[in-house]
Amino acid sequence: KVVSEFRATLLAWYDQKGRTHLPWRTNTLPYHVWISEIMLQQTQVETVIPYYERFLAELPTVKALACADEELLLKLWSGLGYYSRVRNMQKAAQQVMADFDGEFPTTAKSLQTLAGIGPYTAAAIASISFGEAVPALDGNMFRVFSRLLKIEADIAQPKSRHLFYEVILPIVDPKRPGDFNQAIMDLGTSLMRAKAETQADSPFAKFNLSYQDGTELTFPIKSKK
Ligand code: ADE
Repeated sequence: KVVSEFRATLLAWYDQKGRTHLPWRTNTLPYHVWISEIMLQQTQVETVIPYYERFLAELPTVKALACADEELLLKLWSGLGYYSRVRNMQKAAQQVMADFDGEFPTTAKSLQTLAGIGPYTAAAIASISFGEAVPALDGNMFRVFSRLLKIEADIAQPKSRHLFYEVILPIVDPKRPGDFNQAIMDLGTSLMRAKAETQADSPFAKFNLSYQDGTELTFPIKSKK
């Protein structure tokens, strides 16, 4: 009951206040979502948008990326840094052509067989492009759910990832998993930013256990290593 109320509140807020017009949210083809997620790993949204548009204009398909000259790749990536990412992307595009007949695999598990695609990126593509109800665990998701549910696991410990995954998996909206994940990202960069305390009139106050007992800013728990 509380889970379905939370989903409804989150998605209604997202539809009204979310960044629903970002280019990778209006076109959810896996090739597009993948490019956006790799670029967004290292660079802010506003900076990524023109790179994303230019990349897709020059290399509109996975086949075009698989066959592209290195010179063009480096030009399209120039300014984003970490060139290994775009090299891995070309390798993954070649894998899609050779191993998957040119079509992206459709599950988070199978997407992780591609070069440069880890658990977060795989879950983002699977949920946004294919509707698989899996959580895309990034820093925003750790912060939002550790605060809502007072999850005390140390996010600096790799094993905490499994705990968060198991807790959040049944909460992801099975009808709109991609929007659920992207709504959490938007919540984590607005009402539930690292240094922001929930306001009494927030639609999320009633779901937020740490707000209710005044411990919100102690979450997420993260040891220094
Ligand atoms: N950061 C990483 N992935 C994102 C997405 N899909 N939308 C907005 N910001 C993001």
